[in-house]
Amino acid sequence: MSPSTYRRPTPRACATCSRIPRSIFCSAHSRQSPDLTTAEIRRIARTLIAHNIDGVIATNSTVDRATVAGSPHADEAGGLSGRPLFKKSTAVLRILAKELDGAIPIIGVGGIMSGADAQAKIAAGATLVQIYTGLIYRGPELVAEIAQALADR
Ligand SMILES: Cc1cc2nc3c(=O)[nH]c(=O)nc-3n(C[C@H](O)[C@H](O)[C@H](O)COP(=O)(O)O)c2cc1C
Repeated sequence: MSPSTYRRPTPRACATCSRIPRSIFCSAHSRQSPDLTTAEIRRIARTLIAHNIDGVIATNSTVDRATVAGSPHADEAGGLSGRPLFKKSTAVLRILAKELDGAIPIIGVGGIMSGADAQAKIAAGATLVQIYTGLIYRGPELVAEIAQALADR
């Protein structure tokens, strides 16, 4: 479909409160990148609150290759996801959660490969968790493991 024929779907109002939810659109450019400084994360948090944003996803993949230095494909272009991203994305999540102080929900994503990882995201301040790379490597079994781990907390 060419850009001229594409029509963005009309957002649907929440069935309970009739508000149209406004959240950070999940494109690579508007999501929280794990390559932000603490000052930038704080500024983003203030901006999210000031603009009445309903939710934020932290984080996208990283361009940092420090955790995979020396690996055969370490220098390939693109965002790095999965296990090597976990610490870094969770650090961003922790700072963001402190700054937001419960003002808006945070979806924690980045390197969740086990139920324990999901627990750690919640402990760092996430309201919800999202998986991408973990689902590819572990399959739907990971969903059940995470649900159990979060229920057991
Ligand atoms: C192949 C691939 C494609 C992705 N495409 C998108 C995308 O279109 N939009 C987006 O916001 N994030 C995209 N992401 C980022 C993921 O949603 C997620 O934030 C990131 O991979 C970190 O989570 P993970 O470690 O569980 O994969 C993509 C990630 C991968 C690996």
